[in-house]
Amino acid sequence: MEFLDKNIDLAPEHIRKHLVPTYGGDVVYECIACGETFAIDQFLYTCPTCGSLLRLENRAFDELKQIDGKTWQEIFDYRKLLNIEPLKGIFLFKELLFPTVPLQDIIYLGEGHTAIVKSNPELSSLVGMEFYVKNDGFNPSASFKDRGMASAISFINYSIKKRGLSEVLGICASTGDTSAAAALYLSYLDKSIVRSVVLLPKGKVTPQQLSQPLGSGATVIEIPGVFDDCMRVVEELAEKYQVCLLNSKNPVRIMGQKSYAYEIAQQCDYDTGDLVVVVPVGNAGNVTAIMEGFLDLYRLNIVQELPLILAVQSKHANPVAAWNATGRYEPMKVQSSVAQAAMIGDPVSFPKVRKLVKEHFKDRFLTVDLNEQEIIEGMLQANRYGHVVCTQGGESIAGLARAVRDGIVDKNKRVVVDSTSHQLKFSNFQDMYFRNAFPPEYEIQAQDAFVNAPVQLDASATSIAQYLSLKEK
Ligand code: F0G
Repeated sequence: MEFLDKNIDLAPEHIRKHLVPTYGGDVVYECIACGETFAIDQFLYTCPTCGSLLRLENRAFDELKQIDGKTWQEIFDYRKLLNIEPLKGIFLFKELLFPTVPLQDIIYLGEGHTAIVKSNPELSSLVGMEFYVKNDGFNPSASFKDRGMASAISFINYSIKKRGLSEVLGICASTGDTSAAAALYLSYLDKSIVRSVVLLPKGKVTPQQLSQPLGSGATVIEIPGVFDDCMRVVEELAEKYQVCLLNSKNPVRIMGQKSYAYEIAQQCDYDTGDLVVVVPVGNAGNVTAIMEGFLDLYRLNIVQELPLILAVQSKHANPVAAWNATGRYEPMKVQSSVAQAAMIGDPVSFPKVRKLVKEHFKDRFLTVDLNEQEIIEGMLQANRYGHVVCTQGGESIAGLARAVRDGIVDKNKRVVVDSTSHQLKFSNFQDMYFRNAFPPEYEIQAQDAFVNAPVQLDASATSIAQYLSLKEK
C-alpha cells in the first residue's frame, strides 16, 4: 500500500520527503534493572533474566539526530495537514513512538490531539493562577488510556500478521478506564483471532466504566478486592499462560502514552521553558510516559527544557507522594477515594518513576497529596466554570491550587493540567456529593454552594416563569 497525499506539496521542499515516515528504527525490549535486551518478536512484560520491568528502547534513536530539532518541529506540524489515516492520531509522532509498526498495521480510532482549554478567569483566581486543561476525556473511550491502547493494539495487529498468530487473548486488570480502552480497541480486530477479557474489582468501578467493556463485547470478570488484587492475578496469568497483558506494565502501552507529552510541546509551539505539567498518579504509567516523552523531545533538541512534573495523589492512595517526601517507598493498603481510577497502593511502574526522577527529573519532580473533600470539590468547582473534568482531573486542579498556596509552584509558570478522563465517567461521585451521601470513610461533607438538583414543576410556562421570577415582556 502506498501512502500519498496531495497536501505534501504544501510543505516546504526540505521536509517533504520526511512527511510520510519511512524510518523503522531498531526497537527492542530493555530491562530497566539489568539492561539486557530482547527482540520484540514476542509479548514480554518483565525481564526473563531478572524479573524487573521492561521498557522499549530504540537502539537507532541517534539516527533521528541527523534531522535538527527545528526541522522535526516542522515535520510534525506539516504532517497534521495530511489526510493519511494512520498518521491522524498518536502516530503523527511515529518516529518517536513506535517506528517498527508499519503504517498499514496502525489502528486509528480517533485518539489523541485532545484540546487544551484555558482555565476560566474566575476559576483561575480561585486556584491562584491561570492554567490550561489538556482534556484526555476527549478520546474515543473517554480517557487517556486510548493513547497506550492504540499503540498496543497496533503492535498486536502487526504481530498477528508478522508472526502468523492464530489466537490472541488480550487481558487487563483495571480501575475502569484501561478495561474500557482495551475492550474498545480489541473489538476492532479480527474476532476469529482475538479475544478480549477484563478483570475488575467488584463495586470499585463506576457504572459507566462497567458498561463500556460490556458494550464492546469483552468477557468481564469481577473479583473481590481492589485494583492491586486484580493486578496480582493478571500478572500471574501473564507469567503462566499465553495471554497478552494490556496493562501499562506492557511497555508498548507506555510508548503510546508518550504522545501526551509530544502534543503538549506542539500545542506550546515547542516552548517548554517554565512549563509545569500536573498529573494524577495511580499505577504510575502515565507519569512515566509523560516524563519519557519530554525526554525524547529534549534529546532531539525539539524542546530546550524539561518541564516540572507535579504528581498528585489522594492521601488514601499516596505511595508515590510519600516516597517523594520521605525517600522511602512502601506499598500501602488503599482506602476509598473519589479519584477511584488512581486508587492504587503499589504502582507497577514505580521503579520506572524512581529511575527517571533520579536520572533526569531530580529537581523537576514535585508531589502533593490531598484529602477527598479537596479532590471532589476540585472537580465540582472546575465544572461549574465551563470545564468537563473527571475526579482525577479535579484532583490535578486541586493539587495545583495546593501547590500554589504552599509556594511549590510559582505563579509565573505556565501550567498544563492533565484531566485524564471525562466528567461523565464519574457522575456517580457528583451524585453522591449532591445527595450528601458519601460513606464515612471518604470524610466528605457536601457544602450547599456546590450542590445542585433537578426541580419538579408542572408542564406550564406560567409556573416555570413564576419559579424563575421572569419579568413579562
Ligand atoms: N486517571 C484516570 C482516569 C485513570 O483511569 C487512571 C488509571 C489514572 C488517572 C492514573 O494513571 O495509572 O497511569 O498512574 N487507571 C488505570 C485503569 C489504573 O485501570 O484504568 P496511572
